[in-house]
Amino acid sequence: MTSRAAAACVALAAAGCGGTQSMPNPAGPQARSIAGLTWWFFGVCAVVYVAVMAALFWAVARRGRPPDTRPDVDRRLGRVVAGAVGLTVLTLVGWTLASVSAGRSLEPPSAKAAVTVDVIGHQWWWDFQYNNEDRPIENVDSPNELHLPVGVPVTIRAKSADVIHSFWVPNLRGKRDLIPPNVTYLWIQADRPGVYRGQCAEFCGHQHAHMAFPVVVESMDDFQGWLHAQRQAARPPATDTEKRGQDVFMSGPCVLCHTIRGTSAGSGNGPDLTHVSSRRTLAAGTLPNTPDHLADWIADPQAIKPGSLMPPNVMGGEDLQALVAYLGALK
Ligand code: CUA
Repeated sequence: MTSRAAAACVALAAAGCGGTQSMPNPAGPQARSIAGLTWWFFGVCAVVYVAVMAALFWAVARRGRPPDTRPDVDRRLGRVVAGAVGLTVLTLVGWTLASVSAGRSLEPPSAKAAVTVDVIGHQWWWDFQYNNEDRPIENVDSPNELHLPVGVPVTIRAKSADVIHSFWVPNLRGKRDLIPPNVTYLWIQADRPGVYRGQCAEFCGHQHAHMAFPVVVESMDDFQGWLHAQRQAARPPATDTEKRGQDVFMSGPCVLCHTIRGTSAGSGNGPDLTHVSSRRTLAAGTLPNTPDHLADWIADPQAIKPGSLMPPNVMGGEDLQALVAYLGALK
C-alpha cells in the first residue's frame, strides 16, 4: 500500500512538472530563468533542512549526558554560532544575486517583437487583439485563445476593463497583475510549439477560477495562416439551418452583446464570435468547444458559470439547434 501511495505521489509530481500549466516545465527563456531560480532555492532549502534536522537529532541523541565542562566550551560554541550566522548571510546574499539575475531576464529583449497583442482582462474572460505596428492594424480579435509564433519575442500590452486581474502562463513567464486603469507592458517568448494553459492569477470575483485560456504556440507560417484566417469576415450561412440560426442570433438578445464581423452584429460587450468555432474552449477555458457544450452554454450559462454577464436564453429546441449550427460553422 505504501509503495503504491509513493508511486502515485511520484506520478503526480511528474505530471505536475511536465504539464501544460506548469512552472517547472518551462517553454521559453523567461520561464526557464524562473524555473532555474526555483530549483536553486529548492536545493539550498533542502540542504539547510537536512543540516538543521541532523543537528536536531544529534542534540536529541545527546540528551541525558552530563554537561560539557571544558574551559573553552563557550568560545567553541560562539565560533559555531558565528559560522552559522556567516553561512546564513552568504546564502541570503547568493539568493539576492540569483533573484536579481532572474529578474533581469524578464526585461525587454533587444530583438524587435514579432507582433503586439493587446490583452484585456474582463470579469471573467480574456480578449486578445493583434496589432502589427509596421502595417495597418490587423484588428484580429481572439477572445480567450492566445496564439503566439514560436521562437520570437511578442510584446504584450495588458490592461483590465474592470477589476484587478493577473495574466499568467506558467510555462512561459511569471504572472503580471493588470491594475486598472494602467496599461502594463511586458513581453513573452515561447521556444517550444504546443498548447499551454494560461489562467487569471488574482482573485477577481465569483468566477475567477473560470478565467483561463489556451495558449497556442505554432510556427511563424502557421501563425501567419491563423492571422490571415482570423482577419476574414464571418462565413455566411450555407444551409437553411444555418440561415435560421443566423436569424435567431440577429433577432434575439445575442446581437446586443456580441460582434460577428460581416453581419450587423457589432457590440463589444461580450466576446467577438466571428470565428468562435475555431477556438478550443468556451466560456474562457471552462468547457471544450463542442456543439453540445455550446448548446448548454447558450441555454443556461448561469448553471455553468454563475454570475457571468451572459443571461439564460429561453428558446425552442429547433431554434437552439439552428443557432448552434450557425455558430459551429464560424471557423
Ligand atoms: Cu480575473 Cu481572477
